[in-house]
Amino acid sequence: MEGASSSLLDAEAVADLVLLDPLTEESLVQTLRERFRRRDIYTYIGNVVISVNPYTSLPIYTPEKVEEYRNCSFFAVKPHIYAIADDAYRSLRDRDRDQCILITGESGAGKTEASKLVMSYVAAVSSKGEEVNKVKEQLLQSNPVLEAFGNAKTVRNDNSSRFGKYMDIEFDFKGEPLGGVISNYLLEKSRIVRHVKGERNFHIFYQLLAGASPQLLQQLKLRQDCGHYGYLNREGSNLPGMDDAANFHAMQDAMRVIGFSPAEVTELLQVTAVVLKLGNVQLSSSFQASGMEACSITEPRELREICELIGLEPGTLERALCSRTVKARDETVLTTLTVPQGYYGRDALAKNIYSRLFNWLVNRINASIQVKSDKQRKVMGVLDIYGFEIFQDNSFEQFIINYCNEKLQQIFILMTLKEEQEEYVREGIQWTPVEFFDNSIICNLIENSTTGILAMLDEECLRPGVVNEDTFLTKLNQLLATHKHYESKETQNARRVTDASLPPRCFRIHHYAGKVTYNVTGFIEKNNDLLFRDLSQAMWAARHALLRSLFPEGDPQKVSLKLPPTAGSQFKSSVAMLMRNLYSKNPNYIRCIKPNDAKSAMVFTPELVLAQVRYLGLLENVRVRRAGYAFRQPYGPFLQRYKMLNARTWPRWHGGDRQGTEVLLAGLAFPAEELAFGHTKIFIRSPRTLFDLERRRQERVAQLATLIQKMFRGWRCRTQYQLMRKSQILISAWFRGHRQKNRYKQMKRSVLILQAYARGWKARRTYRKYFRSNASTCLANFIYRRLVQRYLVGLAKNLPPLSVTDRTWPPAPYRFLSDANQELKNIFYHWKCKKYRDQLPAARRAQLQARLCASELFKDKKTLYPKSLQQPFRGEYLGLKQNPKYQKLHAVAKDKLVMADTVRKVNRANGKTVPRLLLLTTEHLVLADPKAAQPKTVLSLSDIRGVSVTRFSDGFLALHLKEVSTVGAKGDFLLVSDHLIELVTRLHQTLEATTGQALPLHITDRFSTRFPKGDVSITVVESPKAGINGPVCKKKGSNKMEVLVH
Ligand SMILES: Nc1ncnc2c1ncn2[C@@H]1O[C@H](COP(=O)(O)OP(=O)(O)OP(=O)(O)O)[C@@H](O)[C@H]1O
Ligand SMILES: [Mg+2]
Repeated sequence: MEGASSSLLDAEAVADLVLLDPLTEESLVQTLRERFRRRDIYTYIGNVVISVNPYTSLPIYTPEKVEEYRNCSFFAVKPHIYAIADDAYRSLRDRDRDQCILITGESGAGKTEASKLVMSYVAAVSSKGEEVNKVKEQLLQSNPVLEAFGNAKTVRNDNSSRFGKYMDIEFDFKGEPLGGVISNYLLEKSRIVRHVKGERNFHIFYQLLAGASPQLLQQLKLRQDCGHYGYLNREGSNLPGMDDAANFHAMQDAMRVIGFSPAEVTELLQVTAVVLKLGNVQLSSSFQASGMEACSITEPRELREICELIGLEPGTLERALCSRTVKARDETVLTTLTVPQGYYGRDALAKNIYSRLFNWLVNRINASIQVKSDKQRKVMGVLDIYGFEIFQDNSFEQFIINYCNEKLQQIFILMTLKEEQEEYVREGIQWTPVEFFDNSIICNLIENSTTGILAMLDEECLRPGVVNEDTFLTKLNQLLATHKHYESKETQNARRVTDASLPPRCFRIHHYAGKVTYNVTGFIEKNNDLLFRDLSQAMWAARHALLRSLFPEGDPQKVSLKLPPTAGSQFKSSVAMLMRNLYSKNPNYIRCIKPNDAKSAMVFTPELVLAQVRYLGLLENVRVRRAGYAFRQPYGPFLQRYKMLNARTWPRWHGGDRQGTEVLLAGLAFPAEELAFGHTKIFIRSPRTLFDLERRRQERVAQLATLIQKMFRGWRCRTQYQLMRKSQILISAWFRGHRQKNRYKQMKRSVLILQAYARGWKARRTYRKYFRSNASTCLANFIYRRLVQRYLVGLAKNLPPLSVTDRTWPPAPYRFLSDANQELKNIFYHWKCKKYRDQLPAARRAQLQARLCASELFKDKKTLYPKSLQQPFRGEYLGLKQNPKYQKLHAVAKDKLVMADTVRKVNRANGKTVPRLLLLTTEHLVLADPKAAQPKTVLSLSDIRGVSVTRFSDGFLALHLKEVSTVGAKGDFLLVSDHLIELVTRLHQTLEATTGQALPLHITDRFSTRFPKGDVSITVVESPKAGINGPVCKKKGSNKMEVLVH
């Protein structure tokens, strides 16, 4: 922004010429030149943009630039087309004013490029969305299509627009593009058949030949070689910097985007091919039988191919080209044409086909881009019309083109110079008039309905009798002899002026942009723009749908004798319509300047620019701008827009609009010379003030928005708070109620209890005197005794059986009796057991005692014990009494025998076992050899120190002897018995009975035994290797032994 304002004030190159000082033609051109040198091609005069064509691409059209200019303030950024486009777009969107962008300048000054920049900018900044983007694409893609068919290379411009284009882009209220309408103005159709050397025909022909595939060319019956075609001057098409083939493909893509169907494209190209081929139809003269000269087709191939393309009988076209039907009264006569007449007809046909095809193209594009909805629309018009041109030889087309430019200049003058000044006067603003050239006189010279050149041309065209260009020129000379802006050889002669530059058969007009000499040759013919009816009928007869539709007058049913309006009058009325349209909109100007004639990059020819500065009236424009006011607006809308800037006018002003505006601006303290108050409008002198006003408005709007937000947020929070408070009160009310209710219930309960006690106490006190003092204890004791009595009596009647195994007992009827009941149950059980014991025989008792003893010794300690329960303790297993063999032993035992059995003694040296007979008496333990039945070892029971056995189910036992014993010297005995449990039990019982001491029994896995040769430690190992018949003892070294058991 800083850069922009500093460049605005840069003395050498001010960005706004209004600030130029001193203001002269030289300083103006010099400023433009300096800016151009700095590559600043855009300069302002107020809000008019001057654009100098750089002829080279500059990096100022990037998306970043678009962003920079988007919503920018017009005067705060460097001058740019984007700035004016943005200003126009915002004014349209925000102020609801239809806009038009008028782009003027001579041929090659950059109008078309400028119009494309405007369109692309508006497309880029307007909103996005699938539907909107489609519309934008269609609008943008109309350019390549129309340029292909309507532009051509001229000596002045390689891409010169040969038609006028006005495009209305339509937006909805949000500023989204909805669609558009294109109007086209008079295509320079003479180019179809003739163009001067160094120029080209319309681009499409070259594009088609260069870009079409061989199949397409074959389908269109065309040859790729441009040199083959007469209408292309049989020349090649090399144009540096223009890739015809690529442009052809771009054009095809664009048509697809717009919505052309493939069939439509093919038809379009077929008709284009027909035009090109028509130029190759050669005629030659031949003599008829009547001796009359007639023309005929020289080489029928081209004609045949044309007819194949359009679906027509070759004869029909040949007849139409070589002859003409003339109606004389009621007769129709076929007259033959001369060769020049034939060529004239052929060319007229080609021109007509092409220009009608062009119109069809514009209508077809319109059909695609037109707005489908009937929403309210705002319009931005972009006018890109052919520029003012002066050629060596200027004809009807140049006359028309320059007339159009004259009208545009007029609109510019009217709006920026004349009307503005008139408005100051009308509004009562003090004003010193600025002189300027008003070109109404030239416009009048051309368009006046009675004495204008166009009117006289029409008159000549319609007049019966001999009519040609000479009669037309004579008429002009007569009527305009004294006109300041008209000259011809004759008027010069009359004024005795000799001017070799003005040839005969020419007239000269002093246009606003320079003097142009027009050659009248062809004026009448081009104005008439007639096509022999035979040709239009032939075209209508073709089967080609598109071509046929271009020639509706060819329908024999619709023959009309009325002459169609002339080209000149048609153009005049369409220009008048355009002007009306432009007047109704807010204009934005882009004045294009061509810096050199050579199309060279960055070359600035001051003379050429000066001429353009002059005829564009830029100096006057600056003067009026400077003296005048940059901005004006009726008081009402102005006040409405800015009323928020003053506390007195905001939010409502109750007085008149003018007073309101005065009050409003008084509060803003602008310098007095910046403002002027007209009768109905406020005038603001410099854009800066307006900019300042806008900035303040934006700031204020932001403040107001914040205020609204603040109020809204406050309101929202308050409402929210109140709601929460209400809820909180409700919740606490309910909660308190609930708490109080509970408390009340509690109190009520307590009160009731207190009351009950109190009442009880009172009642007891009242009734105490009526009762004995210990009556209740008596009663209780009585009841208690009764219950006990009943229990005991019931028990006695219901005693359980006397069997000792039966442990049943009736339950206590009352809880207080349960202890007594349990006691009775125990007593009864013990009594029952005693009775049972008492009636047992002595032997049985001894046996049971032994069993009991065994259980105490081994239960849950040795796994052999449970197995032994099955075996009765027989005591005598040898049959000592019965077997005489054991007589001796029997004698030893006498009556004291407790147990006699066979055991195995373990050899202490090797662990092997030998059988022995074992006798246990009440005094001794005897081991005897089974064969001899003689006692071998006799141990006194008191010698036994203890016994060790294993935990497992084996019969191994170690008998530990006291050292002092009689056999103590022999050491401990290791025995294996099949009745180990019984043996140890009996040993225990006997020992206890005789010595009164218990047998020390060790049930363990590891113990030590004493032997004469030293102690041996014995380890018991559970192993499957243990034999079935008892444990296996293994000696391990001299003092270790392992006993493998199950
Ligand atoms: N802003 C620009 N930047 C770069 N080159 C430009 C610019 N404007 C114009 N040109 C160059 O100038 C040439 C002529 O411009 P353009 O076709 O817009 O002229 P015109 O005013 O439309 O002429 P005509 O009246 O003949 O149609 C373009 O083809 C392009 O090469
Ligand atoms: Mg152009």
